[in-house]
Amino acid sequence: MRKKIIAGNWKMNVKPSETATLVKEVVEATKSFTNVEVVCCTPAIDIPAAVAAAAGTHVGIGAENAHWEEKGAFTGEISTGMLVDAGAKYVIIGHSERRQYFGETDETVNKRARAVISAGLTAIVCVGETLEEREAGKLVEVIERQMNVGLKDVTPADCERLVIAYEPVWAIGTGKTATPDQAQEVHALIRATLAKLVGADVAETVRIQYGGSMKPGNAAELLAKKDIDGGLIGGAALKAADFAGIVAAGN
Ligand code: 13P
Repeated sequence: MRKKIIAGNWKMNVKPSETATLVKEVVEATKSFTNVEVVCCTPAIDIPAAVAAAAGTHVGIGAENAHWEEKGAFTGEISTGMLVDAGAKYVIIGHSERRQYFGETDETVNKRARAVISAGLTAIVCVGETLEEREAGKLVEVIERQMNVGLKDVTPADCERLVIAYEPVWAIGTGKTATPDQAQEVHALIRATLAKLVGADVAETVRIQYGGSMKPGNAAELLAKKDIDGGLIGGAALKAADFAGIVAAGN
């Protein structure tokens, strides 16, 4: 049985001074849903406040990106060692916004993911097609490439610290959700692709989240699907009650 994992991706939305309040609200609103792993991934500058507010609770804190080098002349970047030191436990890697706006490639996703896993953190590796790619019939090709290159040299043992997030780019922040059947189809493809990389038994243990306009009103039917093991939540993660509604649906 895979434990469901619901993670908020706060993106660039919450200030350090606002962080403790939101984390404490999330802790309070989700504390009775003990069957779900609950995570808030915050802007790097919010992490110390988030970790302090979540200390001793069931909520884990994560980052939204990390560099692959341990240290050095990489102005503006944050290393996995810094995140470990600050108390983060998870890192989102390869979000479509980073691919779209910041030059992230499958190759850099791979370097980041391996660095995150090696540092003992859990990598939430994002994959997903654009509308253009879907309409051109390239869905399978795109997902397989993102998986095969992005997870190159990730070992079966590494998979304990791997979560995959399927985020169809056309569903992010648009209010358009993939139907449960559309999402399940791609989740099954992701698991089959992972099975070729690390073996079917290990692939069965890896959680695959859905992300893209997930809300309390559509979470239950998505989370009921066989290969949908959680959610990566943008907009709805910024309101504790909405986020908790999604966690409740996964409980
Ligand atoms: P929305 O939930 O706002 O569509 O964002 C999804 C997402 O990008 C999470 O990483």
